[in-house]
Amino acid sequence: MTVTIVGAQLGDEGKGGVVDLYGDAADVVARYQGGDNAGHTVVHGGETYKLSLVPSGAVRGKVGVLGNGCVVNPATLFEEIDTLREKGLDPDVRIARRAHVILPYHRVLDGIEEDVKSDDDLAAGTTGRGIGPTYEDKMGRRGVRVGDLLDPDTLRDRLEYVVPQKRALAEDVYGIETGEAFDVDHLYDSYREYGERLAEEGMTVNAGEFLADRIADGENVMMEGAQGTLIDIDHGIYPYVTSSNPTAGGACVGTGLAPTTVGQGEVIGIVKAYLSRVGTGPLPTELAGVEGQTPGYSGDSDAEAEELATYIRDEGGEYGTVTGRPRRVGWLDMPMLRHAARVSGFTGLAVNHIDVLAGLDEVKVGHTYDLDGEERDSVPATTERWGRCEPNYRTFDGWPEVDWSAVAAEGYGAIPENARAYLEYVSDELDTPVYAVGVGPGRDDTVVVERPF
Ligand code: IMP
Repeated sequence: MTVTIVGAQLGDEGKGGVVDLYGDAADVVARYQGGDNAGHTVVHGGETYKLSLVPSGAVRGKVGVLGNGCVVNPATLFEEIDTLREKGLDPDVRIARRAHVILPYHRVLDGIEEDVKSDDDLAAGTTGRGIGPTYEDKMGRRGVRVGDLLDPDTLRDRLEYVVPQKRALAEDVYGIETGEAFDVDHLYDSYREYGERLAEEGMTVNAGEFLADRIADGENVMMEGAQGTLIDIDHGIYPYVTSSNPTAGGACVGTGLAPTTVGQGEVIGIVKAYLSRVGTGPLPTELAGVEGQTPGYSGDSDAEAEELATYIRDEGGEYGTVTGRPRRVGWLDMPMLRHAARVSGFTGLAVNHIDVLAGLDEVKVGHTYDLDGEERDSVPATTERWGRCEPNYRTFDGWPEVDWSAVAAEGYGAIPENARAYLEYVSDELDTPVYAVGVGPGRDDTVVVERPF
């Protein structure tokens, strides 16, 4: 069977911890979208591993698959694999031959386009990893796929077609000087070498077939979504989104497994007990703001909101894993979660970081929005309208700081009563049971209610 893990908010919900927890019972952990814009930390055998591309299960001896919906930077891939090997691990990572390759010019163009867009407030605050430009080439049918790296003639043909276009764009439209990142011979030599290594190590697969065969053999496959619902290219706050589909539908098209196969399994929505966001765009329940990311913010919020935002940011370690940027923070937003639950059809929830909110006198939740005099319980389809939504808050009594490791060991009943009331509210509103509650950063700091495998 499959278990699909989906971020219910804006990314950074703590998906890695849940993948880690439930991944124990999985044989294969597959990613279905995104690339090295993700960031997850895995603590294993006293070592901390920071990964952005390799599925976290590969640290624990599972087969890690990067599905066709991923965009793969071979430099990052081999850097991460080599680091794991240096630390004595033997990761088994397979890459879909249909996945698209991030080339150096994609990164350069990502940076330039963000710069240009910032003049019109359209910059998404990307991670600069070349994600958008690579997906753009995929849809424009001019991309280079992983399978092409293993076929030198095809690789050369693809590069000879696309690179002059990219060079003209960079030089003639954006007026920058181009170097090796836009040079066909240089790219051909270095990417053919990556192809040779992929072939030597037998790393490429037909992902759909590979995964379907494993499932037919009775194995368990975990599908690890990166980013989150509200930065989905279709269902998120366009244009402040990533360029892939983190929602559950992405797990089908991004691996080649049928919707009926994924639908027979479980889909777990990962919810952070408050909100955090790296990047721009509206955020109705935001507390204070972060300069350069919060629209119109220049350090001018009231002192109480600033203090609360800083408290939550510091307690929750809300600084980007990939970029180190401070994250924007806000109260939990139920319209956002109702939207996420509908799009992905969650069968269970994991609610993380309830320990971060401990010690506050009260905890607020954006229960519904007001938009143009009407109450709404879900997110409007346009970002402009979303930016005009005013949250209607519900206030919950706070819960105390307790020994969270003891709570994790004792189980759900040991969670402070007011925190349980908060969790039950979320579960009732989404009509979805809580499977797990994250009460700390470590793998053991989780109250497990249900095990989906
Ligand atoms: P890109 O994915 O680098 O193109 O960035 C597009 C948007 O998605 C930006 O607002 C990023 O901050 C956001 N983003 C991308 N990856 C992540 C992630 O793993 N967590 C949270 N936000 C992300």
